[in-house]
Amino acid sequence: MNYKTLYNGVKIPEIGYGTYKTPAGDICENGVRTAIETGYRLIDTAAFYGNEKSVKDGIIDSNICRNDIFITTKLWNDDHGYDNTLRAFEKSLENLGGDYIDLYLIHWPVPLKHRDDWQNDIKDTWRAFERLYDEKAVRAVGVSNFLPHHLDYLLANANVMPMVNQIEIHVGYPETETVNYCKDKGIAVEAWAPIAKAKAFDIPEIKHVAETTGKTPAQVLIRWCIDKGVIPLPKSVTPERIVENFNVSDFTLSEEEMRILDGVTDIGRLGSHPDDCRF
Ligand SMILES: NC(=O)c1ccc[n+]([C@@H]2O[C@H](COP(=O)([O-])OP(=O)(O)OC[C@H]3O[C@@H](n4cnc5c(N)ncnc54)[C@H](OP(=O)(O)O)[C@@H]3O)[C@@H](O)[C@H]2O)c1
Repeated sequence: MNYKTLYNGVKIPEIGYGTYKTPAGDICENGVRTAIETGYRLIDTAAFYGNEKSVKDGIIDSNICRNDIFITTKLWNDDHGYDNTLRAFEKSLENLGGDYIDLYLIHWPVPLKHRDDWQNDIKDTWRAFERLYDEKAVRAVGVSNFLPHHLDYLLANANVMPMVNQIEIHVGYPETETVNYCKDKGIAVEAWAPIAKAKAFDIPEIKHVAETTGKTPAQVLIRWCIDKGVIPLPKSVTPERIVENFNVSDFTLSEEEMRILDGVTDIGRLGSHPDDCRF
């Protein structure tokens, strides 16, 4: 497994395993166990996904030491604010077991109920994140779905800079401005929906690069993220796909292949706009 280093020195795997919409129970446990047996060391979950306990059970089933796994979870929109954040964190920690979480993220910058006061809301919420970081309950703190204007505000009001920003990124939706902003500030970027939710495999440019590299479309899309310097978090509950998605370290994309993939314009954003989420 290759690792990147966050600005505080913490090492983070260059690829992670996503669990959004993975039902709690056997499906999640088996998926997480299979992922770890395959070689994944970063598991991405969230309080909102309702599967943190099953993530813990899958990790236990894998027989790999907890300290060798990088666990990310996220604060849900209903739990923003200083006290609520500390309470929500305790709940996630209880679900996930152990006495620390590797990376804790604010899931969305502008919850529906904070549309008019998102700046104050973020300030209070981030103070709790800073406390969790100071107390070593988390090894790294970060955000998700933050665009440059959200980050501008946070950085101007923070004592601890976020180490990670997790955003929607895939071929056809590279989010270049936010990625460059984060790189400039030393914030690592993670890509959610890195395989565009499996909706783009038939796009001619993707099929073409899959043929020229002898890889599957999913592998090409995941490699594109790594070659862009962002950390992909592909999700699958299907054992063969979990393995397929992980096997991307034996090739890189040529400049020409990157150029072809960068030319794809017909996918676009698949999730909510961070300033307009309905939750
Ligand atoms: N921070 C956020 O707001 C946010 C938002 C969304 C997602 N995320 C995180 O990012 C992760 C990835 O995003 P995502 O789950 O939305 O999308 P994704 O990983 O791009 O796509 C997942 C879909 O692709 C299918 N799939 C996976 N590998 C495949 C393959 N090799 N061939 C064909 N189909 C394949 C999966 O089906 P099966 O599972 O049935 O195999 C699933 O339907 C999430 O799981 C979550 O951890 C974060």
